Amino acid sequence: MRIYKAKDYADMSRKAANIVSAQVIMKPNCVLGLATGSTPIGLYKQLVEWFRKGDLDFSEVMTVNLDEYKGLSRENEQSYYYFMHQNLFDHVNIPVENTHLPNGMEPDSEKECRRYTELIQSLGGVDLQLLGIGHNGHIGFNEPGESFDKQVHCVNLTESTIEANKRFFASAEDVPKQAYTMGIKTIMQAKKILIVASGEDKAEIVQKAFFGPITPQVPASVLQLHNDVTLVADEAALSKLSE
Ligand code: F6R
Repeated sequence: MRIYKAKDYADMSRKAANIVSAQVIMKPNCVLGLATGSTPIGLYKQLVEWFRKGDLDFSEVMTVNLDEYKGLSRENEQSYYYFMHQNLFDHVNIPVENTHLPNGMEPDSEKECRRYTELIQSLGGVDLQLLGIGHNGHIGFNEPGESFDKQVHCVNLTESTIEANKRFFASAEDVPKQAYTMGIKTIMQAKKILIVASGEDKAEIVQKAFFGPITPQVPASVLQLHNDVTLVADEAALSKLSE
């Protein structure tokens, strides 16, 4: 694993965006695996800026997102579809038909998981998968204890996740109870992985995930077994590494 230490969030975003843009330049028709969450927002901003300057071309790029809430429509501001359009897709020249997310409005989980798994395979797999890391080591919606052997699947959100998400919705009943996510197996099949982390609150889990034992209790620890992982993190997120 390569670790790039960034000074701060802005530096982390720029360094990670450099890796994504190198991928797009080297292989213009690459498949990018994308993530939502707060950490990659700066990275997406940077890509948009370089696109506007004429340094990047997304016209042949294809994307597959890690996850999506089940039951949320594309128009819902909390959907990952909405997030991706707001933060990236609406600002670059990627054809909308090249962008893919699990369909949150498909009620038949088995059908949707099969469709999304087959879609990723039909694109030839993911060239570069971007990931964030949760405080408990989750990647995608793969929470502690999840088997390393799963492809795209539907997860029941934990009470604590539902509780934490409540603030974004009108009432607790409106918070999605399930989500579709790439499984650990799907993520591990990506040719390259880029994981971003920022802030002191991620320091402990970054240390555990990359220098602790490999265990389903820390889903991101499985990345130690992948042969092409790059971690770009700021000083605060790397501050526990010497311990
Ligand atoms: C996002 C995702 C999540 C986040 C993780 C970290 O698509 O699947 O696993 O990457 O929750 O989120 P932030 O970046 O908000 O700390």
